[in-house]
Amino acid sequence: MQQVFVMKIPLASPVFYSEMKKAAVDALCSERFVLGESVFRFEEEFARYCGVDYAVSTSSGTSALRLSLLALGVKRQDHVITTPASFVATANVALHANAVPVFADIDIKTYNVDPELLEKKVSGKTRAVIPVHLYGFPAEMDSILEISREHGFAVVEDACQAHGAEYHRRKVGSIGDVGCFSFYSTKNMTVCGDGGMVVTNDEEIARVVAKLRDCGRASHYEHDILGFTCRLNTVNAAIGRVQLRRLEGWNERRRAIAKRYGVLLSDLDEVVLPPNGGSIVKPVYHLYVIRTRFRDELKAWLEQNGVQCGVHYPLPIHLQPIYRKLFDYKEGDFPKSELLCKTALSLPMFPELEKQEIEYICEKIHEFFGRQT
Ligand SMILES: Cc1ncc(COP(=O)(O)O)c(C=O)c1O
Repeated sequence: MQQVFVMKIPLASPVFYSEMKKAAVDALCSERFVLGESVFRFEEEFARYCGVDYAVSTSSGTSALRLSLLALGVKRQDHVITTPASFVATANVALHANAVPVFADIDIKTYNVDPELLEKKVSGKTRAVIPVHLYGFPAEMDSILEISREHGFAVVEDACQAHGAEYHRRKVGSIGDVGCFSFYSTKNMTVCGDGGMVVTNDEEIARVVAKLRDCGRASHYEHDILGFTCRLNTVNAAIGRVQLRRLEGWNERRRAIAKRYGVLLSDLDEVVLPPNGGSIVKPVYHLYVIRTRFRDELKAWLEQNGVQCGVHYPLPIHLQPIYRKLFDYKEGDFPKSELLCKTALSLPMFPELEKQEIEYICEKIHEFFGRQT
């Protein structure tokens, strides 16, 4: 009987190497558990990596975004524009600041906010915009900055999926007024736990975010603003420092994998490939997302063949139950984001993904569409 060969390939593969273990144990043994030296070193190194003056670490990407809005003075009834094609936290943070999230639809070719549609949503109440560099592909920052300057509102980059991605040779996160990162366990770099970072060139924003994340402390037992406990733990910062040193190499590898997928899948009419980088944008492929109208069937087929896939995201934010309840949104309100959610399929993407594994995945996709490689 002929043996059927099935590989087991995960969607992502978070790492915890011995150098990270050592850094973690060293930090636990020799530093304060909270706001130890590793936290400040990690912040300095991350700021340098992004090419900004200040970086302030936080307990998550969500808290990085929320504290940024608060530090910018976003308040009750202000409008914060973002896209419904993101993780729900991108819009939640506007609500956390008592502001109103206002959605603008995406350009389906880049998966990111369409600047023309964004401009249509600007009003006298607009206080900030949160462009998302979705899947690690930089948003169209030139147009977004132009609109923000013309109308006088802040730009908070959601770079939670885009550590190291570049736009006109600048790292994303360093282009708007503030940039926010997540170190959640499947991101391009992690801290082996939850964590986040705010980056900025504005000293005052950095100072306020640092206070907000630490209970609004003016001194140890004096609190002059309403703060939160949103600090990054020392042990996680120590791990983050090690991972940051590997980030460029890991991103290079992700780009090479994306290129290979692109070559092997380019002949399939039913598959739309993600946008490529070029002279302006250098993506980091946090996720490798293809689009097909046969998404659910293809996902089931690949999983049957040992290939774990993901859907980012099955629902656009405006159709999440909480948003429908609060704002009465319905299907058809943001058709391109809805189309993305119905057709997007994330294929395995992590630096250690091997050549044979990529070939196997693409072979299975060809088999699904009834084509031979
Ligand atoms: C685009 C985007 N924004 C915000 C967040 C929130 O980050 P965290 O999970 O660290 O709170 C995430 C993380 O999953 C994300 O992908």
